[in-house]
Amino acid sequence: MSSNSRICAFPSSVWGQTATVLAQAKLPICQRWTELRLSNLYQGSKLGKTNEPGGVQTLGKPQIGIGLVGSGFMGRCHANAFRAVSGLFDIPFEPKLRILADATDDLARDGAQALGFERFTADWQELVNDPEVGIVAITAPNVLHAPIALTAIAAGKTVYCEKPLSTTAALALEMTEAAEATGVTTMVGFNFLRNPMIRLAREIITSGEIGEITGVRGRHAENYMASPEAPHSFRTDPTGGGALADIGSHITSMLRYLVGPIAEVQADCRTIFPTRPVAPGSTERAPVKVDDMTHALLRFENGAGGSIEANWAATARTMDLSWEITGTLGALAFSQEAMNELRLWSGMPGRNGFTRVEAGPAHPPYDAFCPAPGHHLGFNDLKVIEVAELLTAHAGVRNPGPDFREAYEVQRCIEAMQESARSGSWVAL
Ligand SMILES: NC(=O)c1ccc[n+]([C@@H]2O[C@H](COP(=O)([O-])OP(=O)(O)OC[C@H]3O[C@@H](n4cnc5c(N)ncnc54)[C@H](O)[C@@H]3O)[C@@H](O)[C@H]2O)c1
Repeated sequence: MSSNSRICAFPSSVWGQTATVLAQAKLPICQRWTELRLSNLYQGSKLGKTNEPGGVQTLGKPQIGIGLVGSGFMGRCHANAFRAVSGLFDIPFEPKLRILADATDDLARDGAQALGFERFTADWQELVNDPEVGIVAITAPNVLHAPIALTAIAAGKTVYCEKPLSTTAALALEMTEAAEATGVTTMVGFNFLRNPMIRLAREIITSGEIGEITGVRGRHAENYMASPEAPHSFRTDPTGGGALADIGSHITSMLRYLVGPIAEVQADCRTIFPTRPVAPGSTERAPVKVDDMTHALLRFENGAGGSIEANWAATARTMDLSWEITGTLGALAFSQEAMNELRLWSGMPGRNGFTRVEAGPAHPPYDAFCPAPGHHLGFNDLKVIEVAELLTAHAGVRNPGPDFREAYEVQRCIEAMQESARSGSWVAL
């Protein structure tokens, strides 16, 4: 059988992707990509007739129905990841975008059409209890995470929830214990951990290559609230809002992943702008009751000391989720603004200075996206990797986390920092 007749057995959508790849096959490197792509498509799959009119042949993976709550920034990102994942990873399930819920019928219908869902509803409970939904993805405002997740857990569904897990550590613990008692799979959207460069950093640290970790400086700084005219939203809700909960949770999860548990914190939380417009374009203003900027000192359980900054009013910064980690033999530094590189100081005599390590196929799963170094992954790719891990966890193969338990630990750190800012003292975790 020629390779072309073999390819034609695929449904048209798959053929379309494959044809694009074949069209690029003039260069040797792209030829290798074509082979990789085809072997990935064939791996673990069977070709067989479906009952659909026209007898289209399909890949024989079991389907898993996705219900998505919220069609904003993150809803779009989740939908994109569920659509893309099976073209890039050999995962046990084929996700089907079944039903989308949003706050109103109009929002839900528009979101479902734009993101490719079969059905829509303005009632998230209907989505959670839908028999065609196996995974509930929550990209709604933070205050809705707990009720949606608890209902989904009670219905035995896998829950994929955006960060922060909930508005309080107490609620996050309730969600965690409910999931553990039921045994459902959970995952939380700390997608920045999925970066191959972050995995590499963890490997370098755990192998002892930079020695014993002594110092840590972490920061998540963005500018989306840098203007006093940036309006209130769910992000400034006094319950569970603020820069620390919103983006401080990302850098906290990352430092826990790279360095380990935090033992004690002392923090200063500041509100930079005392009032903000109540809604976009409104002249009415309301007080701000959450932090715009938090700085905290950290003591890690392993003895390392450090600091953290969460700042959503950082003029000039767009995505400075960054850190520097110092060891007795070397150091590492990273910023999400240059997410395809890691800087390593290895201390070779006469070669002082940070070396730029560039992401490439040697750093899995970069190779699932591209066989060539320097072509670079992007933010949405991290979500695709996260969804591949989610589907693998749903199949019971492995769950690398972060699950609800880990997200609860992150939330405890956030609350300890808030408590420290109120009391002016160190707070133990
Ligand atoms: N992991 C990340 O990198 C990342 C980035 C941004 C946001 N987030 C998280 O994602 C979540 C959503 O943030 P966003 O930026 O997408 O917000 P958004 O405002 O863009 O989207 C929220 C969506 O939820 C919908 N919604 C509101 N009430 C609802 C209801 N009762 N039922 C159903 N849908 C409802 C809104 O209409 C909107 O479509 C938050 O928890 C946020 O912290 C994570």
